[in-house]
Amino acid sequence: MLTGKNLIYPTDFTVEQLEDLFRLTDDIIARPEKYARSCVGKILATMFFEPSTRTRLSFEAAMERLGGKVLGFADPASSSAAKGESIADTIRMISCYADIAVIRHPAEGAAHVAALHSFIPVINAGDGGHQHPTQTLTDLYTIRTKKGRFHDLTIGLCGDLKYGRTVHSLIHAMCRYENIHFVLISPEELKVPDYVIREIEAAPGCSYTLNPDLDDAIRQVDILYMTRIQRERFASQEEYLRLKDSYILDAQKMQNAREDMIVLHPMPIVNEITGAVDEDPRACYFVQAQYGMYVRMALILSLLGGQEGYPTVCGAKMFEKTCVNPRPNGTVHCKNPKCVSNLDLTLPIRVKEGGRVCEYCDATIEP
Ligand code: NCD
Repeated sequence: MLTGKNLIYPTDFTVEQLEDLFRLTDDIIARPEKYARSCVGKILATMFFEPSTRTRLSFEAAMERLGGKVLGFADPASSSAAKGESIADTIRMISCYADIAVIRHPAEGAAHVAALHSFIPVINAGDGGHQHPTQTLTDLYTIRTKKGRFHDLTIGLCGDLKYGRTVHSLIHAMCRYENIHFVLISPEELKVPDYVIREIEAAPGCSYTLNPDLDDAIRQVDILYMTRIQRERFASQEEYLRLKDSYILDAQKMQNAREDMIVLHPMPIVNEITGAVDEDPRACYFVQAQYGMYVRMALILSLLGGQEGYPTVCGAKMFEKTCVNPRPNGTVHCKNPKCVSNLDLTLPIRVKEGGRVCEYCDATIEP
């Protein structure tokens, strides 16, 4: 049962719960009319502090197609965040108006903070360069449909593996399956973060190789997951300009790939895939985006408890508000400048894994 849960990491759901979600997605695609009134009387709030096309619109379309209503903002300048309101207070308010909330925010760990203060299910629609679990649901559903399995796969991830949150979430999710080999295709400067490498190393069924050469790597993979270079996350525009054309997948490179390989991309595509590749039957990124709406319908339905009825909201949790001095002298800090705990200094430091890792963003804590 997913009713009332949050989705902050893709692994917040068990493998079995994911399979249930994908079976529900299959049924929604086959019989959409059956679900057209499933969320009548329910409200989805969308809080987008960062740009989005697919994620926000597919969530809104999903809720509309379930018969529910949508409220929210797509431009933080039009919300009270522009006046300096904290994420905690914003979600407390949203909790009083809506039944389920979706948040996208540039700070790493922002969705986790929202979930800690929310009385309604919170869905992470991207927290900075950290995680993007609903894109992963879309990616997994596409893999399940196109490859028919989640085991015995060689997955090439290409492009900006450092800032690409969809890459981090996909690896995190795939580490639970058997015999997965990741080929990490990136320039040295855009390698996956250490915490992601640690996850692969800790997963008994998984292994990885670093291979910066796309021409070579494309020959081995069952799935090629392309990503754009994330311009907005670079500290230096010069460095972005130097790296932006690191990889361009074109028809010539596709000639070296297997007949049954598939190309995925979370979108938007900037210039890392040429138009000619769109015509190749192995290019699956448009159908992948289409699946995104159906998977999100299944997700909303599952978190709201389907047609069984879910208790209406009655106010937000207030416990963090009582934290008068959230960081007593001597408290260790997260060293990631993009971590939500370094942007909102009223948040207490939270740690996991014996105090070594920041609970908000997964970075190593500085002693
Ligand atoms: C991705 C994102 O926002 O992280 N887009 C999406 O949600 N489909 C990928 C990207 O922006 O490059």
